[in-house]
Formats: sequence, structure tokens, C-alpha cells
Amino acid sequence: MFSFREKVAVVTGAGGDIGRDAAVALAKRGARILAVDMDPGGIEKTVEAVRSTGGTAEGFKADVTQSAECEAYAKRAADLRGEINLFFNNAGIEGIGAPLADYPEEEFDKVIAVNVKGVYLGIKAVVPHMKKGSAIVNMASVAGLNPFRCIRRTCFRRPPPLDQ
Ligand SMILES: NC(=O)c1ccc[n+]([C@@H]2O[C@H](COP(=O)([O-])OP(=O)(O)OC[C@H]3O[C@@H](n4cnc5c(N)ncnc54)[C@H](O)[C@@H]3O)[C@@H](O)[C@H]2O)c1
Repeated sequence: MFSFREKVAVVTGAGGDIGRDAAVALAKRGARILAVDMDPGGIEKTVEAVRSTGGTAEGFKADVTQSAECEAYAKRAADLRGEINLFFNNAGIEGIGAPLADYPEEEFDKVIAVNVKGVYLGIKAVVPHMKKGSAIVNMASVAGLNPFRCIRRTCFRRPPPLDQ
């Protein structure tokens, strides 16, 4: 099994399902986890999940849309062992499902702020603390490759015929 012993892994969106599972999986392989999320309850659950399997984790509350908060989590992670070895850039929101012409501007701004700007700010903050051989995994969605068709607020992976 691939080992992450002595490595520092930063997981954003760590309070959610995928982030939690990733944090536990990485910790089981020896990584020390910094669990970043804006939801303190989610962070706590993840830190507990990692520790209950014998792993090492600490939480860090941050909003990934804010550059100062991204720099703060990156600095904390680098302070753990001098560098960041793995970055799972995973925080994201689904937004609502709607055709673009009906999509509320406020919701559009929220989705772009987290899913696009948050990913960029994370990379910008973390890379200065990485050395050769480190890795970044940016989370995306199958919807980026195979868009869903939305009729009113219902979205379909396999859309019904176009006359509906
Ligand atoms: N679950 C799926 O089927 C699926 C499908 C495609 C893509 N994804 C992507 O995978 C990633 C994780 O998904 P999930 O299913 O675990 O979602 P989730 O909603 O369970 O977890 C997402 C986490 O991100 C956090 N978050 C949201 N905005 C944030 C912000 N501004 N700053 C910091 N944290 C923030 C939330 O608090 C939450 O804990 C997301 O990027 C999501 O878009 C998930």
C-alpha cells in the first residue's frame, strides 16, 4: 500500500462526505491531516473520524473564497512539518439546478466564488509551501464533462427527449 508516512496533507471541504473519507484514507496511510472547512461541526466530525482510526488530524476553520484565510490554512499546514506534501482542493458547492437563462445571478456568483476562485486561491496559497514531488488534486464533477440538462429546476444526467 502506498505510504504517506511523515507527509502533510491538506484537505479542504473536509467537513463533507468526500473530504472526510479522503482524510481518513490518507491518515490510514500515515499522512498528518489538516482538515479545512467553513463548518466547525463538520471539521470536528472529520478530526474525530481520523483519530478514531489511529490517525493524526487537526481542524482549521476557513472560507476558501477568502485569500487571507487560504494563506492562513496553508501556513498552519506548513508549520506542522515544514512543508505541504499533498493538497486535496475539494471544497465545493452544488448550487441550484436551472437553465442558464433562469439562473439567479447571486447563486451564480456563489458557485463561481467557491468552485472556481476557491480552487485558484488554494493553489496560490499552498504552492509556495510545496517542494518537488508534492501533489495537488483539484476536485471537479462529472457534470464538467457531461453537462446535465435542466428543465425548470430539475436536472437530468440522461435527459428526456427535447420536446419536453
Ligand atoms: N457528492 C457527489 O456526488 C459529487 C459529485 C460531483 C462533484 N462533487 C464535488 O466533490 C466535492 C465534495 O463533495 P461532497 O459530496 O463531499 O460535498 P459536501 O457538501 O458533503 O461537502 C462539501 C464541503 O465543502 C464545504 N464548503 C463549502 N463552501 C466552502 C467554503 N467557501 N469554504 C470552506 N468550505 C466550504 C462545506 O462546508 C462542506 O463541508 C465538492 O467540490 C463537490 O462539488 C461531489
